[in-house]
Amino acid sequence: MKISQERFKQRRISLMEQMAPESIAIIPSGQMITRNNDAEYPFRQNSDFYYLTGFNEPEAVLVLLPGRKEGETVMFCRDRDKLMEIWNGYRAGPEGAVRDYAIDEAHSIAEVDNILPQLLDGMLRIYYSIGQYDDLDQQIRHWLNLIRSKSRQGAVAPTELVMLDHPLHEMRLIKDEDEVALMRRAGEISALGHVQAMKLCKPGVMEYQLEAEILHYFAMNGCRQPAYSTIVGGGENACILHYIENSEPLQNGDLVLIDAGCELDNYAGDITRTFPVNGHFSDEQKAIYELVLKAQKACIELAKPGVLWHEVHDESVKILTEGLIELGLLTGSLDDEISAGGYRDFYMHRIGHWLGMDVHDVGDYKIDGEWRPLRPGMVMTVEPGIYIAADNEKVEPRWRGIGVRIEDDVLITESGCEVLTSAVPKEVAEIEQLMAAG
Ligand code: GLY
Ligand code: MN
Ligand code: MN
Repeated sequence: MKISQERFKQRRISLMEQMAPESIAIIPSGQMITRNNDAEYPFRQNSDFYYLTGFNEPEAVLVLLPGRKEGETVMFCRDRDKLMEIWNGYRAGPEGAVRDYAIDEAHSIAEVDNILPQLLDGMLRIYYSIGQYDDLDQQIRHWLNLIRSKSRQGAVAPTELVMLDHPLHEMRLIKDEDEVALMRRAGEISALGHVQAMKLCKPGVMEYQLEAEILHYFAMNGCRQPAYSTIVGGGENACILHYIENSEPLQNGDLVLIDAGCELDNYAGDITRTFPVNGHFSDEQKAIYELVLKAQKACIELAKPGVLWHEVHDESVKILTEGLIELGLLTGSLDDEISAGGYRDFYMHRIGHWLGMDVHDVGDYKIDGEWRPLRPGMVMTVEPGIYIAADNEKVEPRWRGIGVRIEDDVLITESGCEVLTSAVPKEVAEIEQLMAAG
């Protein structure tokens, strides 16, 4: 399941169609990042660069020049190098970029300082996302100054810098068929990883052992990396929203919250499930869980074309606040608790986010100051939660330290939405049954 070169090419063409005449776009690859001394983090391509090329190497720059007769797409990349390839693996080289990636013209990255100023000369606009890579920002300044210094010889430096993010990220926000297929599979692998963890869980298992079980399942299914650091929080650790230590034993009588998703060919899954360590919800755990589940299902029901982004969030606030009042955790009226934000002691994040190549994916949430309507092809998470701090003395002790979040990934379709992550159960009875059988 790979995205075809034809698709990558089509994306470059669509982006170029949105560019003004006599303009140039510059899109850098990701970089290798040192972890410590000679050890590096696994390479992860820059999402914008990958979206437009499928090229998975560092030290590369894609240049788009709509209308250029000699070729509209130019790539700079590492040369082939026998010795380096023995140590670190295959490089496509400029010849491979042209042959295998449908690039019109490719050069060694060592030539970028010589050739890019020539490509910039005479262009009116540069499309470039400034502020991501300091080195390239400085190189571009240097190239512009070089052109300015040659103005008496007739060189003309561009007059406008346009942030590339907007047109490119609007494209990334609406997923094409190939992306939908990958995200369905990423959702399924992520979900089945959670199922494995549910089956393994029992009192005394370490948080990191559930993480290991999930990552093992991801890797065995072609996803060597998760899309983000896995969260496994037992008991009150579930109330720390970005808890990634995952270092404690799971206790009988506690819940455990797992937020984990795989990355498949650079596309993310993002799922949270919360379940009882011993396989049975207590009354208090069940009450909170059922409330979060009710909010989550209502929000999924609401997610369809035309609904505004914030309406989905507002629905979660309404249902969770109503429920917290019913349970006696909030004591004001519904309107007061919503307008004064009383619910924020228990629900301090938003309903979700766009999902795609980045787990918190690109794309604006507002257009001209207004929350945007959902459209077919968007993928978002729906992830309400309730987190009752262990030191919250305003609530009865029996509630304290309970943290629950339930998160699924949904694709907006013509008529509503499709849940991409339904292969892991979320009903109380289903979870208890699965754990009993595990
Ligand atoms: N896993 C990150 C998030 O849910 O937003
Ligand atoms: Mn999420
Ligand atoms: Mn998540």
